[in-house]
Amino acid sequence: MAASRGSIHGEWSGRLMFVLAAIGSAVGLGNIWKFPYLAGQHGGGVFVLIYLAAVAVIGVPIMIAEIMIGRRGRGSPINSLRTLAVAEGRSARWGWLGGMGVATGFLILSYYSVIGGWTVAYALRTASGTFAQASSEAVSAAFNAFVGSPAALASWHTAFTLMTMFVVARGVRGGLERAARYMVPALFFILLLLVGFAAASGSFADGFTFLFAPDFARVSGAAILAALGQAFFSLSLGMGAIMAYGAYLPRNVSIAPAALQVAVADTVVALLAGLAIFPVIFANGLDPSVQSVALAFIALPLAFGQMPGGTVFGTLFFVLLVFAAWTSAISIIEPAVAHLVERWGMTRRRASLWAGAGVWLLGLGSVLSFNRWSEYTWFGRTFFEVVDFATSNVMLPLGGLLIALYAGWVMRREASADELALSPAGYATWRNVIRYLTPFAMLLVLLQVSGALRWLG
Ligand code: TRP
Repeated sequence: MAASRGSIHGEWSGRLMFVLAAIGSAVGLGNIWKFPYLAGQHGGGVFVLIYLAAVAVIGVPIMIAEIMIGRRGRGSPINSLRTLAVAEGRSARWGWLGGMGVATGFLILSYYSVIGGWTVAYALRTASGTFAQASSEAVSAAFNAFVGSPAALASWHTAFTLMTMFVVARGVRGGLERAARYMVPALFFILLLLVGFAAASGSFADGFTFLFAPDFARVSGAAILAALGQAFFSLSLGMGAIMAYGAYLPRNVSIAPAALQVAVADTVVALLAGLAIFPVIFANGLDPSVQSVALAFIALPLAFGQMPGGTVFGTLFFVLLVFAAWTSAISIIEPAVAHLVERWGMTRRRASLWAGAGVWLLGLGSVLSFNRWSEYTWFGRTFFEVVDFATSNVMLPLGGLLIALYAGWVMRREASADELALSPAGYATWRNVIRYLTPFAMLLVLLQVSGALRWLG
């Protein structure tokens, strides 16, 4: 019986470790520098409300679906999706959906690891006092020189890829779980320290207002789509990362409450990140609405550099980003590594080596797109931007749509009801949402119907 089998990759040592690992995956660069920026752009409190709705309506149901498929299939997303489909008398080609997820993971990690490298470099720079009392021009010039150097970016990209593959190579218990066990609590601790610093030395009221005061004039189709897309990316959905983590979940853990906890924690971190960042920006009279890259790597180093205690707290901010990016990165590549182990009988070390080599090579494209190749664009986008756009706006929503259809229509009621073990009302709610509402919302994202939605604004 499929239900009683374990995974060949091992299991989390318990419910808490799964929840921590999934939070580690979910809490990433997306929460800390993208969410606050998007909220600022799209009307503060209104965006936050739409985002909460998106997490509840799209995020949680799909997260439940991914964990459920993973735990029932017990393998890499490719194998889980294939095995369960065949068990339902459906096509083995559903495995291709897992294959698309693996490909998406390679693409996402290739650029995520470049930015991850920046966070490591900036943690060290801030710690060494580079930005203390530095002028605005000096901080911008330092950033431009940094991204203008292929050698610097390639070195930090290499370092971050090695850090990621080092953890993944050590396996579920010795690698993924251990990383989450230490880094996720540390991450919360650092974030609370930073919010405390912002409350004590920043313009907390201004930051709070900017983030939460609802500006209803800014509700637009674009805001809704941005919230849907961000909720999806932030919860690590649509490519099988959470599905792979679900495959290592012990049988006796209830899936829905665990998914809910992960979603709540991820959202809380995003909100706290805004409360840590904006008061510091306002206290220094800086512009809060710059793009997320400029916010994290120019405005914040500058702001911290002007403040007493800024070297320590600025360093903590970048260490926070490093931990967030690192525990996310390992989940982005886990489906690929699990697949290499299952399909080619590789050891985890060898599989990590190959996957890391692929990520590294692809990532060089993103490295160069900030300097040598910055002139080469496709529809106005550099290589980095094309990869980001194709994955976030096309491949992840498509993956999410197909995962929802799979969980709601391919898997029989008996199978999903057995795996979820919910109350009848809870199960009926989830099933209706995943069959109708979620696919509809994913289609909206996919079709980018911002024009058609404009009447809402
Ligand atoms: N959720 C992470 C963030 O907010 C990124 C991430 C990790 C991710 N795993 C993923 C995104 C899987 C999409 C799919 O930065």
